[in-house]
Amino acid sequence: MMSRIVLSEVSKSFTTDTGVHTDALRNVSLNVESGEIFGLIGRSGAGKSTLLRMINALERPTSGSVQVDGVDLAQVSGDRLRKMRHGIGMVFQQFNLMNSRTVFGNIAVPLKLAGWKEDDIATRVADLLDFVGLGDKAFVKPRRLSGGQKQRVGIARAIANQPDILLSDEATSALDPQTTAEIVALLRSVNEEFGITIVVVTHEMDVVSSLADRAAILSQGEVVELGPIQQILSKPQHPLTAALVQSYTRTSLTEEEKAALREEFREHRISVAVDDALVETPILSRLARGHTVDFSIIQGGVARVKNQPYGQLSLALHGEESAIEAFVSELSTHAEVTRW
Ligand SMILES: Nc1ncnc2c1ncn2[C@@H]1O[C@H](COP(=O)(O)OP(=O)(O)OP(=O)(O)O)[C@@H](O)[C@H]1O
Ligand SMILES: [Mg+2]
Repeated sequence: MMSRIVLSEVSKSFTTDTGVHTDALRNVSLNVESGEIFGLIGRSGAGKSTLLRMINALERPTSGSVQVDGVDLAQVSGDRLRKMRHGIGMVFQQFNLMNSRTVFGNIAVPLKLAGWKEDDIATRVADLLDFVGLGDKAFVKPRRLSGGQKQRVGIARAIANQPDILLSDEATSALDPQTTAEIVALLRSVNEEFGITIVVVTHEMDVVSSLADRAAILSQGEVVELGPIQQILSKPQHPLTAALVQSYTRTSLTEEEKAALREEFREHRISVAVDDALVETPILSRLARGHTVDFSIIQGGVARVKNQPYGQLSLALHGEESAIEAFVSELSTHAEVTRW
């Protein structure tokens, strides 16, 4: 199967008028598959927006290539590029609505640009308003709407032209947690009902974890980690990912916390990564009983992402030295265990 979006060794550098040079992207390679929701996470300045804007050719790579549906964007310009952009919707943190137009007028803009007939536009906008839950707001001006409602308009406008791809740049970052959850749910239904491939840029781990199938972590223009979201949350490989996951779930301990806890828990201490096996079988208690080891829980938690359990338990172990050794070594064959 052909990937919907392919970035191959994409680098982008900016030089400002005053001669300041920034490598916004360094050698980024990644694929986004048709129909998936792909997350891009990273701190401010990591290059997320620059990467997103490569996909609709609002930015051009300094080197490397970007392909959308098999077409190299470097080969596309003028009318063909405009047409291609009709197939790619975009939503923004600040909504970017026109205040002089009604909700209806805002959503109609891309349809007019794409040459839709007036009658078809009216039908399409009415359908879209129903889909985003704003059926009664057609003739209201954006300034009369809440942030969540504005973003619903932004999403309706972005998908008006029935795009194959939706790019979302911090669409929920200006919203409160409850409204964020509603917009996340709306984005998921955009993906499920219309099969639209979505790339979501965010610095919010809970947004990617509840929305994305796969994600890439960007740091200083580089992809430092990429994989299925469950894997990223349960077994983060890069320190930055671990820090992002940690601040989100708080089931694991920081090195500073461990240092402090070593004083308090002078026994043996381990951290165990939680996965299906640990949740579905009583392996932890069975092994502890079998080896005559007791444990107390120092910190931990189990959460679910796409119905897959993940998390971490930090335990203090009590018992004979040799029994603890045997327990830890057998547990290590079933789960990822670190001693600290
Ligand atoms: N047009 C530009 N001219 C000069 N530098 C730029 C330009 N666009 C982006 N940059 C620089 O490239 C780097 C990456 O910027 P980018 O906007 O992609 O980051 P980001 O991850 O989206 O950050 P944020 O979370 O704050 O939106 C930053 O150092 C930024 O200052
Ligand atoms: Mg940005």
